[in-house]
Amino acid sequence: MAEPKPAFQDLLSTHQSGHALAQSFYTNSDVFGHDVDEVFYKDWHLAGHISELALPGDYFLFEMLQESVIINRDDLGQIHGLANVCRHRGSRVCIEPRGNTKRFTCPYHAWAYNLDGSLFNARHLPPEIDRTKLGLRPIATHVFHGFIFVSFAQDPTSFAALHRDLDPILTPFGLARTKIAHRMVYPVKANWKLLVENYNECYHCATAHPEFSRSHPTHMAPDRVAPMNEAMQARSTACGIRTDYIDAIGSARPDHAPDYAYNRYSLYAGYKTGSQTGSALAPLLGDIKGYDGGASDLYVGILNPMLIYCDHAVVYRFIPIDKDHSAQEIIWMVHEDAQVGRDYDLDRLLWLWDLTTIADKKIIEKNQEGVNSRYYTPGPFVDMEAYAKRFVDSYLMSFKLDEID
Ligand code: FES
Ligand SMILES: [Fe+2]
Repeated sequence: MAEPKPAFQDLLSTHQSGHALAQSFYTNSDVFGHDVDEVFYKDWHLAGHISELALPGDYFLFEMLQESVIINRDDLGQIHGLANVCRHRGSRVCIEPRGNTKRFTCPYHAWAYNLDGSLFNARHLPPEIDRTKLGLRPIATHVFHGFIFVSFAQDPTSFAALHRDLDPILTPFGLARTKIAHRMVYPVKANWKLLVENYNECYHCATAHPEFSRSHPTHMAPDRVAPMNEAMQARSTACGIRTDYIDAIGSARPDHAPDYAYNRYSLYAGYKTGSQTGSALAPLLGDIKGYDGGASDLYVGILNPMLIYCDHAVVYRFIPIDKDHSAQEIIWMVHEDAQVGRDYDLDRLLWLWDLTTIADKKIIEKNQEGVNSRYYTPGPFVDMEAYAKRFVDSYLMSFKLDEID
């Protein structure tokens, strides 16, 4: 059994398994520093989608904490992640959040870089200086079913196990052939872990999300939900949708892989998708043949959950700002051929998860206020919070010495 890092030994020893985390995990600057180093600078982050880089020269910026990454497609179709830090005196090179360009020119002294990051031109640079060593530093990227992931790790974890286990499940949804219908950032005045915990349990759904709970039975006890899921199986098979259950989060995660999980569950009868009335919202995704009345929970890393309905996907991004502030970004994906106004109505598409996220923001912020109190003590999780406990256990593994590079 690996020993915890000494600086956090006392704090870790207070943790009672099956209980929420102690106050300092949510309020202490050193813990947040640990989270930055051991979670955010090691995990993969969903930065965007290949549909945003349709043409050579297309680029967008991915920004998190102190870092800014230029993600672009070059003339050969290759996708690059480049640290947005000039190799001259460190200015940001690219200022516009997205666009199309032949090369990136630093606004300070006009050093210019090619799309692959190599230095194209540096005015008055003495000829004896090796220009091949002055390219923008590469940042690891990986395209997973059309989604572009970024990692700041020296030795990023491998997607091999995810491709092996998830490719057959995800391919029918054709996520690479989707496009962004809308994206929205919701600032939340709370530590990032409270956002992730909240996403990972539906104990709060019946009270906080009456609209969501009319269509999604995830707030029900497992024995009430099991027969609905069994009844969905035949419909899913007929539609070409897999119903495998995969849990590779925390202690179940293969060595040197990101966390991942997949689960498909039935919506209530009469609901084809996560809409207000139960009716369809957009054209069917990928190659699936109809509505099975289900939704898939997918995790590609613990920070990037996704909900895949038959006709759209809702992607979550948990974004740290500082120890007391975070943001949730939601990205709504539809079939790449779907036309707004003709094939889908944007307000109907956004309705459920916009409303649900605004409600979550309120309860998470109230959760943080209570956690800040001198009267806070961590209470026990109930069975319906098993995935929140799974997250807490997985997070605590980041404190083990053998996890440190
Ligand atoms: S800092 Fe970029 S050219 Fe000088
Ligand atoms: Fe919620």
